[in-house]
Amino acid sequence: MEEKMPMQEKMPIEDRNAKRTLNVIGAGRVGCLIGLLCRWHGVAQVQDVLGRDRSRTQAAVTQIGSGIAVTDITSMRPARLWLVTTPDAQIAPLAAQLAKAALVRAGDVVIHCSGALGSAVLAPLQAQGALIASVHPLKSVADALTAADTFAGTFCALEGDAAALAVVQPLFISLGARCAILSAEQKLRYHTASVLVCNGLTALIEAGLRTYQLAGIKRNAGMALLTPLMQETLSHANRLGAARALTGPVARGDAGVVAQQLTLLRPLDPAVAAIYQALSVVALDLAKVQGVASVADLAAVGEVLAQAADAECAPPCILKKSL
Ligand SMILES: NC(=O)c1ccc[n+]([C@@H]2O[C@H](COP(=O)([O-])OP(=O)(O)OC[C@H]3O[C@@H](n4cnc5c(N)ncnc54)[C@H](OP(=O)(O)O)[C@@H]3O)[C@@H](O)[C@H]2O)c1
Repeated sequence: MEEKMPMQEKMPIEDRNAKRTLNVIGAGRVGCLIGLLCRWHGVAQVQDVLGRDRSRTQAAVTQIGSGIAVTDITSMRPARLWLVTTPDAQIAPLAAQLAKAALVRAGDVVIHCSGALGSAVLAPLQAQGALIASVHPLKSVADALTAADTFAGTFCALEGDAAALAVVQPLFISLGARCAILSAEQKLRYHTASVLVCNGLTALIEAGLRTYQLAGIKRNAGMALLTPLMQETLSHANRLGAARALTGPVARGDAGVVAQQLTLLRPLDPAVAAIYQALSVVALDLAKVQGVASVADLAAVGEVLAQAADAECAPPCILKKSL
């Protein structure tokens, strides 16, 4: 426990290893992942790890294999790198706390890992001379160790001030990341696309399983049907591009089937009907690029989809009902 550390061990490691000390604020999955990678690759020495609960924070330190667990922000020692890996909503309050405690010095680099937030959320620290950046690993981190094992080649979106990025980019490349620098505006768009596909796919799987259940197919059997279908679709999209990969009633310009399936879903599961309608609008854009179905047939599909949007259970109505 930090309160009982002998004075010598409490001395900042930075004096011996000026550029490589790393303090971690938020001892969760991503904090442990980056701490672990820094230790494995020897690019930074994990020093203090801040959490709210002592035993959880100590468990994180044990997992990282380096550092000291602390629960009081004011007991954190100076470090050249500060990593804020709390949930997004806690980043701004912690930046304010850090600024108030005057712990971060001019020239220190402060990073957070949110995908949706830009580095500007760390502005109170920048005002004190810190260099600020955000680094978003495009990875679903369910547990730190598995994510660290498979981190090599992970895409990381970097955003922030140029001086911070000059430190952060080589550091993350050393950890095995593929990095690209984005503006704050680009980063929000990039993250929106990532959320749409990663989290949207999970929701789409659920919509599919619920629709299979309407046919009496149990969820585990439905999953067994969907898995090879999804893998094949992914492989086609990757190999041929989205437009050429599209199959099904919209690609064929079969307005009758689209209308029949929307009519089936609307009373049984209006939320799934709304998903079917919205995704078919985007599929219609692809079908036009693909150019296999006739212009007239695709126009008929467009008409069915427009009518569905106007119908009682179209997306705006669903949204209103669920609010
Ligand atoms: N997980 C992912 O797949 C992923 C991928 C890319 C980026 N990110 C980003 O990485 C960041 C962290 O996400 P995560 O998944 O690692 O979250 P997480 O596993 O929930 O960990 C967050 C940690 O922050 C701690 N914490 C919360 N409030 C705190 C406070 N005021 N002071 C100190 N510690 C505090 C929590 O402690 P308690 O245990 O006390 O709650 C928890 O240990 C987020 O910005 C997220 O958007 C996550």
